[in-house]
Amino acid sequence: MKDLKVSLGGIVLDNPVIPASGTCGFGKELSRWYDLDILGSLSFKGTTIAPRDGNAAPRVAECPAGMLNSVGLQNPGAYHAAAFELPELKSFFHKPLIANISGFSEKDYVEAVEIIQRDSAVKILEINISCPNVHGGGMAFGTDPKMAAAITRAVKRAAEKPVYMKLSPNVTDIVSIARACVDAGADGLSLINTLLGMRIDLKRKKPVLANKVGGYSGPGIFPVALRMVWQVTGAVDVPVIGMGGVSSAEDVIEMMYAGAKAVQVGAANLQDPLACKKIIEDLPRAMEEYGIERLSDIRRVE
Ligand code: SIN
Repeated sequence: MKDLKVSLGGIVLDNPVIPASGTCGFGKELSRWYDLDILGSLSFKGTTIAPRDGNAAPRVAECPAGMLNSVGLQNPGAYHAAAFELPELKSFFHKPLIANISGFSEKDYVEAVEIIQRDSAVKILEINISCPNVHGGGMAFGTDPKMAAAITRAVKRAAEKPVYMKLSPNVTDIVSIARACVDAGADGLSLINTLLGMRIDLKRKKPVLANKVGGYSGPGIFPVALRMVWQVTGAVDVPVIGMGGVSSAEDVIEMMYAGAKAVQVGAANLQDPLACKKIIEDLPRAMEEYGIERLSDIRRVE
């Protein structure tokens, strides 16, 4: 019997597989496909203090080996999420929850954290400083070490749960951002968010996305994500959740050899709602193939 358990700084997950924020809403749609209690955890849709309609359509575009999105943090707002979405989610999901929180100022992040963390099912606060689809916040905080540190410090002052900063790949040196967050008190890191990309419609001679640019995700970014996870886990001593193009049991194991303690699955859910289920069911086979008894035994390759 293979042991799939992993630990995120003492929070034990039955397995490392977590649907990534923005690819599973608040769980309702995915729960029509399978029992979500097979998951290690779930990171719900990036929640801001005020409700948001998101960006104008079109806001998705297909690409070779992935997709672009420019959703723009559409969400019902922290008060609605706490009062309605989380109670509903908890009626069918009984595992530790990751709360993905976004904002446009330190105050925004802190207020949303204060509301969402009251829910006892929320075990980790994943602070999104890497959304490429909004102006005046999001990625702007995650591409400057000083701003990343300032948001981390502000959130840490208010947080009663572990704080994982979600980092952007749209930087020349992700290690300097990771270090800034950890020095400012981050308990862990999540990486990577999407890569800024663009497509042009040749018939209309216009960008495909109404927002013109968007975040690229899917299997095409996996080697970039893996490289960044490996670089960051070699430089800081906090748990890292790895993500970016993960779509198979082998990808999960590879991420863990890059140093990740758990792994989020994003775009794959949009292509196949059963993606996480299939990965979890396939993990024992892949572990057997690579001679792994316990996932927690995996050590980062040098
Ligand atoms: C979005 O809502 O635009 C995607 C979220 C993100 O990339 O952080």
